[in-house]
Amino acid sequence: MKIAFSNLAVPTTGAAVVAALDGRKLTKSALELNKKTGGAINRAIKASRFKGKKGQSLTVLAPQGTRLERILIVGLGKPKEIDARALQDAGGDVYAVLSRSGSSASFMLVERIDGCNLSAAEMAAQVGFGARLRSYQFDKYRTKEKSKDKPILKGINLLCNQSGLARKRFAGLDKIANGVFMTRDVISEPPNILYPETLAKRAKELTKLGVRVEVLGATQMKRLGMGALLGVGQGSARESKLVVMQWNGATRKGKIRAEAPIAFVGKGVTFDTGGISLKPSAGMEEMKYDMGGSGVVIGLMKALAGRKARVNVVGVVGLVENMPGGNAQRPGDIVTSMSGQTIEVLNTDAEGRLVLADALHYTNDRFKPKFMVNLATLTGAIIISLGNEYAGLFSNNDRLAQRLEKVGETIGEKVWRLPLGTAYDKMLKSDAADIKNISGGRGAGSITAAQFLQRFVGKTPWAHLDIAGVTWAKKDSATAPKGATGFGVRLLDCLVAEYYEAK
Ligand code: BES
Ligand code: MN
Ligand code: ZN
Repeated sequence: MKIAFSNLAVPTTGAAVVAALDGRKLTKSALELNKKTGGAINRAIKASRFKGKKGQSLTVLAPQGTRLERILIVGLGKPKEIDARALQDAGGDVYAVLSRSGSSASFMLVERIDGCNLSAAEMAAQVGFGARLRSYQFDKYRTKEKSKDKPILKGINLLCNQSGLARKRFAGLDKIANGVFMTRDVISEPPNILYPETLAKRAKELTKLGVRVEVLGATQMKRLGMGALLGVGQGSARESKLVVMQWNGATRKGKIRAEAPIAFVGKGVTFDTGGISLKPSAGMEEMKYDMGGSGVVIGLMKALAGRKARVNVVGVVGLVENMPGGNAQRPGDIVTSMSGQTIEVLNTDAEGRLVLADALHYTNDRFKPKFMVNLATLTGAIIISLGNEYAGLFSNNDRLAQRLEKVGETIGEKVWRLPLGTAYDKMLKSDAADIKNISGGRGAGSITAAQFLQRFVGKTPWAHLDIAGVTWAKKDSATAPKGATGFGVRLLDCLVAEYYEAK
């Protein structure tokens, strides 16, 4: 689907899209079209429940006085509530309606609105961004899909004043969408196709954008002492991998700046059977998205490199497959992590924290980052706590945590902070090793998992995002069709842009 920009004009073919505000108030271009069609828009609104509220839309088919196929009126709500996110949602809603409508060409008229402080160009760019995000499809394995079932919409033309500015602004947002799409792509792939080696190959593609990508195999990781990560993968026929991605975009006076990077670390369990502590079979197929954290880190690196972010970033992902098998790790095994801490593995299904223990320590040790943020589909318990609305946030640093909360609210990828504390750390005391990988009790499952990770980050500012509940959606949202959401890419891209990028 193509998003294009041109100057304001009244469209004469295809679908025309105009906006209305809360209280059935028509925008200027809606009024103009209403006149052209002998009042068809107003009559349609009167005959309906359309109020102009955010999320509402109304279609007028084959309006008289024009050759238009349809007019779509989209509600934007109250002017003072129209922000970037509202416009992205509107763009997503418009795409969803049009893609099922039968029109192949569409023109949306975007103009400045009194009481909203965004320019028409910025508004159009955000609408385009939302439409692009919603247009994502993962259908490469549906070889028999009939063409009549596929969307025929070829593109959305956004018409506004200063369309050149809008096009330029959209180009930056489009790079972020490319990152989100990469994340959604790798998460959607089935686990027979996507395993540590093939996921590492996908990460390697970022080389084209100027990202330095290293792939460590089992031998190298063994040499580094990564017994925790390797223990998880040892029951699988697929070799474990660690991928290190570096984007050095920090510049001063046009020169690359040697400056401590910021680091993102992802859990990449390409399939989580639970291992010998085998999961029940019902719903196990969902565990293909247990590499979601790594998918976000890879897509984030793509977004940052794509838009040439002026910052030094490293992305590290630990890729393993958690399988039961003759060589699989047993409950009761004691492994030695790269940090030197020994871990008693009492449940092989609490494997994400074992992977991250080595990935976090390695990142901290090698790069001495300013701070680290890790992402992981770490616990089912976080879904019990927060459902599918918020990701869990755990941090040893209030400033970092507050920044994540603030950015999350603004862009609509929300995070909710939960506590850490020595009382929880004590629950991980092992009789036989330095730490055990589960508490053994029933309470605070997400917190003890986070507490486990904290043992491997030293004094470096760190935040852990438990994204188990937000990585995969069973329902469409305005800017994401059901399936892999890409949650985290925009959150962290925006965190970087707001606080850590040279302006
Ligand atoms: N990958 C799972 C967590 C998960 C569950 C992600 C549901 C997405 C949806 C993780 O490895 C796991 O199995 N966690 C266990 C931990 C337990 C054994 C302490 C869990 O949540 O049950
Ligand atoms: Mn597990
Ligand atoms: Zn897992």
